[in-house]
Amino acid sequence: MAAVSPPPPPLLLGLSGLSNSGKTTLSRLLRRVFPDSFILHQDDFFVAESDLPVVDGDVDYDCIESIDFVGLKKALGYVGEHGELPGDLVSREDQNCVGESGVGDEVVEECVRRVEAAGMGGGRVRLAVVDGFLLFHDEEVLGRLDLGMFLRAPYDKAKQRREARTGYVTIEGFWEDPPGYFDKIVWPNYVKAHKHLFIDGDVSGTLDPEGMKAKNIVSPPEVDMHMSKILPWAVDVILDAVKRKEA
Ligand SMILES: Nc1ncnc2c1ncn2[C@@H]1O[C@H](COP(=O)(O)OP(=O)(O)OP(=O)(O)O)[C@@H](O)[C@H]1O
Ligand SMILES: [Mg+2]
Repeated sequence: MAAVSPPPPPLLLGLSGLSNSGKTTLSRLLRRVFPDSFILHQDDFFVAESDLPVVDGDVDYDCIESIDFVGLKKALGYVGEHGELPGDLVSREDQNCVGESGVGDEVVEECVRRVEAAGMGGGRVRLAVVDGFLLFHDEEVLGRLDLGMFLRAPYDKAKQRREARTGYVTIEGFWEDPPGYFDKIVWPNYVKAHKHLFIDGDVSGTLDPEGMKAKNIVSPPEVDMHMSKILPWAVDVILDAVKRKEA
């Protein structure tokens, strides 16, 4: 009987950015383009609600202290070593509905053809996508990734999308943002953890190209790009990264 060859080691892709910039949507689309890929969701590593910091009466789900980074790094280490998710990790985040991706099947199919045309089809490329809103402030996390991808969205658009959402599945049940949560909690935490990626710390301004390069992070060329354009861009970037890794 012919020996079954083991699956290729996955490319560890960190997908980060502002809330509602499309991280989970893009992660799921990439899983369709690159078969046998899988997603490690940072949202599965929230500490219990009773341990979350409280800011003027509101629990803070968006600060660094809200995440069990020890557990997340252990899971990342496992993925790096074994090329698969830890067997005991049950994902709540996969139950979260992110709504319609707004990306037609034809865009996904075109991406699949692009992968095949590059000679990388048939499962040759597997991704381990780390979907997380807080990854790029942490050198140890960055050091474990093959590539970082940073999604942006204009403040107004991200706020509007977040406020249109019904809520999030949590350890305790279901979380719905109280009024004003985006401005009070989400946006200030985003600024604090990401200003180091931008020139003069201005998160509504220009990304610092040298800093991004040094950290091995790429970002779509425009702040407000539709997901049907982000997906093919991401596929090309991934194919390049795989070629570089294999060279
Ligand atoms: N670039 C985009 N183009 C079109 N739609 C988008 C884009 N980014 C996000 N969306 C839409 O916004 C909604 C939220 O996206 P998604 O849940 O993927 O964001 P997220 O970054 O994972 O957010 P969170 O940090 O809160 O988990 C989805 O309905 C998604 O289709
Ligand atoms: Mg998400």
